[in-house]
Amino acid sequence: MRPWPSDRVAFGGDYNPEQWPRATWDEDLRLMRAAGVSFVTLGVFSWSWLEPSKGEYDFAWLDEVMDLLAEHGIAVDLATATATPPPWLSAAYPEILPVDREGRTLWPGSRQAWCPSSPLYRDLALALTDRIAARYHDHPALAMWHVSNEYACHNLPCYCDTCAVAFRRWLERRYGSLDALNEAWGTAFWSQRYSAWDEVLPPRITTTFSNPTHVLDYSRFGSDTLLDFYRAEKEVIRRHSSDVPVTTNFMTLSQFRLLDYHDWAPEQDVVSTDHYVVDSLAHPQAELSFHGDLTRGLAGGRPWMLMEHSTSAVNWQPVNPAKPPRGTVLDSLAHVARGADALGFFQWRQSRAGSEKFHSALVPHAGEDSDRFREVCELGALAGRLGEVVGSTVDAEVALLWDYEAQWALAGPCMPSAAVDYVTAAHTVHRLLRDRGVTCDVVHPGTDLSRYRVVVVPTLYLVSDEHAAAVEAAARAGAHVLVTYLSGVATPDDHVRLGGYPGAFRDLLGVRVEEFFPLRVEEEVALAGPASTAGGRGRTWSEDARTTAEDAEALLAYAEGPLAGRPALTRRPVEDGVAWYLGTLPDDDLLGGVLERLLTEAGVAPAARAPAGVEVVRRRSQEGSWLFVLNHTGTACEVAAAGHDLVSGREVGPVVPVPARGAAVVREG
Ligand code: GLA
Ligand code: ZN
Repeated sequence: MRPWPSDRVAFGGDYNPEQWPRATWDEDLRLMRAAGVSFVTLGVFSWSWLEPSKGEYDFAWLDEVMDLLAEHGIAVDLATATATPPPWLSAAYPEILPVDREGRTLWPGSRQAWCPSSPLYRDLALALTDRIAARYHDHPALAMWHVSNEYACHNLPCYCDTCAVAFRRWLERRYGSLDALNEAWGTAFWSQRYSAWDEVLPPRITTTFSNPTHVLDYSRFGSDTLLDFYRAEKEVIRRHSSDVPVTTNFMTLSQFRLLDYHDWAPEQDVVSTDHYVVDSLAHPQAELSFHGDLTRGLAGGRPWMLMEHSTSAVNWQPVNPAKPPRGTVLDSLAHVARGADALGFFQWRQSRAGSEKFHSALVPHAGEDSDRFREVCELGALAGRLGEVVGSTVDAEVALLWDYEAQWALAGPCMPSAAVDYVTAAHTVHRLLRDRGVTCDVVHPGTDLSRYRVVVVPTLYLVSDEHAAAVEAAARAGAHVLVTYLSGVATPDDHVRLGGYPGAFRDLLGVRVEEFFPLRVEEEVALAGPASTAGGRGRTWSEDARTTAEDAEALLAYAEGPLAGRPALTRRPVEDGVAWYLGTLPDDDLLGGVLERLLTEAGVAPAARAPAGVEVVRRRSQEGSWLFVLNHTGTACEVAAAGHDLVSGREVGPVVPVPARGAAVVREG
């Protein structure tokens, strides 16, 4: 594989020169040099410019841009331009348009208006990919292939007739027989038994609740369909270009729920992703960190590429606050801390027209004479100084299990409580660990867990026997395993495991739950421990649990209400490890205390001791280690560290001073 430039943290972003007159390109290159840009992503939305009418191609402008970038030493992540078809295509072939759950056609006029199952769209997209790969495979600027863009962002699920046919084929492959499908979907319920494949439809709008396994399979089908399309594009590229890495930009923002990236990641030569800070979240910076740990998990622990983020405001929230001064640098370093070796932005130059004209960019509307562009230049220079970090990995002794199928199933219709949210369950534990300077790898349940001292299993509602056994094996081998409420309840077909919850983990935990008692949205329940343990409040969930093993000890119990006296937190030694079970969502203080006890018992230390609001993460390689200190507060702080700070350029020790909203990256020793 041709190596991606690795002497620096790669720095750049989406470049859309077709939006600008030719004269602007020269200024672009001058400013890219000034800012230290080392790569751009080119051509993401260029189909209508590259093929202005069917079969008529115009590559002259792209040739020129590629040549200019090569002359200036800027590497290109070249897109296949298949993310959005040109208007002539949708006009000639309206059958490629996606259809929503209510049967409404999604018309062209925006972007990504194509049905994921359309063979016609796929043929036309592959033909374009073929042209582009044939033309640019040996261009000196080419460093990476960028297939499509943010698959599924707008066109999944599609409920059209083409998808109906493709779904039936997918189901035939999965189940082999209608009997197997009827069994898996539980169609004995509500007279849903199918007698022919053609009777099966996408889960379109219906009278009331859809069959949950039907809906779950439709999510699996959507992810598989797009993955198949990605593979087809990659294959076309490979016919021309065998040694240039191929990627597509994921959306691992943890609220995005449409693709099973654990299936997608092995198909990427480099895992790349996009991330935007969502202002409406209660803890946006903690979400950013979670996303980094998840992306690193997808990359198998190896460094990954942040393909897009924003220098400041986005344009797609109801209100789009600007990042505070220093926010561009601080957010970027938070990604690098968690394993990003490339910092890409959407986009190079802020558009003056179109839907994203108020989305920030590396070059803002105000131009180069602006504080934001000066901060961008500073970040570009810093990315150069961070070159020594490239290729290193991130220290983590805690695994947090994350599974897209469990997320889909939990979000399905008719659950005990719509207030139980998979993302919240995982984020809460992750955030409280992050507050304590402890980094998690966010990984698939099928990952080898043997090297972790702690394994957190947050609300893993759906789990296979195999994955449940792996969690148990990790505990027996010495890990502290923490399982939280509503885990292990269902099989991969979303059938409830009988005999008491949390079915798949009941034996490991020595706990059996007879009935769920979900809490109302604002409801809380008092929790109390034995004299030595602090109490607090539980939210969202409670359940009628009893310990079934003599060595399962209740550390917290409900102190009021119908469950008074029943255990809410249990701890059970299992061979060399310990299995913990949490049946509610305690307040931050209480849960933080529980986690501290668990970390102490497991022998997990923080990356460094840091004041509240100061994030600490360590990257390490054979050459040494780097402590990232990210001060998200408005007050300067000090953290114990000694070595060379790559941000300030100073030798530091025994503490590193970090300004308000500033950062340090200390090469230790
Ligand atoms: C996504 C897309 C970009 C742009 C940004 C805006 O990441 O890939 O084209 O629309 O969102 O935030
Ligand atoms: Zn469709």
